[in-house]
Amino acid sequence: MATVLSVSGSPSPTSRTARLLRDLDARLTAQGHEVVPLDVRTLPPEALLHADFGHPAIVAATELFDRADGVVIGTPVYKAAYSGLLKSLLDLLPQYALTGKTVLPLATGGTTAHVLAIDYALRPVLASMGPAHITPGWFVLDKHIEVRHDNSGIVVEPRTREALEQVVDQFSAALGDREPLGAVA
Ligand SMILES: Cc1cc2nc3c(=O)[nH]c(=O)nc-3n(C[C@H](O)[C@H](O)[C@H](O)COP(=O)(O)O)c2cc1C
Repeated sequence: MATVLSVSGSPSPTSRTARLLRDLDARLTAQGHEVVPLDVRTLPPEALLHADFGHPAIVAATELFDRADGVVIGTPVYKAAYSGLLKSLLDLLPQYALTGKTVLPLATGGTTAHVLAIDYALRPVLASMGPAHITPGWFVLDKHIEVRHDNSGIVVEPRTREALEQVVDQFSAALGDREPLGAVA
């Protein structure tokens, strides 16, 4: 069992990326992992924008990364790359905040023209932070994530669901068997 930090980098209050991550969190939880969700949009904007490394919320977020064995990083594609919000947090983490960790990159976007944003933009940034592994990621078209009318969750297009389950299971296998590190207060 591992501790997994599941990070959504969307600024949207109705984010498909965040909903997708929370849906995939359930699969990781069912596989025995302890999953800690983090929506970057809930962190104080002034701390992110003013590079306030010492802000208690930034210190707490840094500790979440520190305690995690694995990190799921999900971002919407903005201007053919990851979101600025996600980058604003990554910039405040220590240079090697992902040392020894297993990382699963995920992106949602409006056009397959930008499917490679995950490999050409996101992956190099994550690689610079020292992870042990970056497992294969996945790009999901926004139209393939349907929010249920009663807001009870999402319906993912079947072939996309199948692909996502494969990358999540690969990530889970790469985490291996570990003892949980415990929840963060
Ligand atoms: C400001 C902005 C820029 C975007 N730029 C791109 C883009 O360059 N390529 C793309 O495929 N989708 C782009 N999109 C579409 C989003 O990536 C897509 O709708 C995504 O699923 C939104 O995720 P969210 O609901 O989690 O915020 C953009 C959306 C916004 C709001």
